[in-house]
Amino acid sequence: MLSNMIIFSGNANESLAKEICQHLNIKLGGALVETFSDRETKVKILENIRRKEVYIIQPTCRPVDHHFMELCIMIDACRRASAKEITAVVPYFGYARGDKKTEPRVPITAKLAMDLIVASGADRIITMDLHAVQIQGFTNKPVDNLFAEPVLIRYIKDNFPLENLGLASTDVGGASRTRSYAKRLNNIGIAIIDKRRPEDNKPEVMNVIGDVKGKTIIEVDDIIDTGGSLVNGAQALMEVGAKEVHAVCTHPVLSGPAIEMINKSVLQSLIVTNTIPLSAEAKACSKIKVVSVSSLIGEAIKCCYTGESVTSLFD
Ligand code: R5P
Repeated sequence: MLSNMIIFSGNANESLAKEICQHLNIKLGGALVETFSDRETKVKILENIRRKEVYIIQPTCRPVDHHFMELCIMIDACRRASAKEITAVVPYFGYARGDKKTEPRVPITAKLAMDLIVASGADRIITMDLHAVQIQGFTNKPVDNLFAEPVLIRYIKDNFPLENLGLASTDVGGASRTRSYAKRLNNIGIAIIDKRRPEDNKPEVMNVIGDVKGKTIIEVDDIIDTGGSLVNGAQALMEVGAKEVHAVCTHPVLSGPAIEMINKSVLQSLIVTNTIPLSAEAKACSKIKVVSVSSLIGEAIKCCYTGESVTSLFD
């Protein structure tokens, strides 16, 4: 049924690519993705892909620029090998936070990243929980923005009684995402953390809007990077009377002091997905649990290939 499909992986998250292949019951395509001695990327596709539908799995996570170049170079190699159609499957789209000019003389890096992927030869992009949904419009190619929500909601339903449970968005921008989660959880209440960021990577909590007293609160966010937003948010929630605080988050970027901060924090658990592989330090953190989005991405790839609706996966 999927005989004209071939999936390749860069080095960013091969285990996710293998899980996706397992879900689709196909073998991961053979490709050499290595570096020359000067660290330039070297790619060779090891099988015939003429007129095949190619899917390249590569989140652009750390080292971001290196993984980004691997993706672009793999797309270029596939285009020159006469693939019929090339889909860049970018479960975590790096540079997405640079989605607008917030001050004079700064780039819009998300637009540049999209331009480079398309210029390399991608015909379509599949991604997940884009930091800003308008990034879909940064190209005229089709972009399928998947949501980890069904997988994270399943975890919440399986592990937390809904009575006395509330959700909290770590900032005003994430409120609609948090509301969408709440809707699937019998419309439980939500709070919004009023956060400001005086400097990059230094979020400060100003206020908590909403009633969290005596409740178990789950913070909802798309990205955990340095951990400041979720950790400071958890502290603020406890200070205004929450009983305990947990968090769900799609992309575990976990850079800088993140793990140390999480370990020392009042946050009781952090549930993330495998869009980005965890470092050894993150794997050793007993508060972090990982749920897999491989079946969801696998189903979305199948829908794209067979022409079925991707939206139906989220109804
Ligand atoms: C911000 O708008 C995002 O949704 C995340 O809250 C943010 O990127 C998390 O970064 P950090 O963990 O460094 O606070």
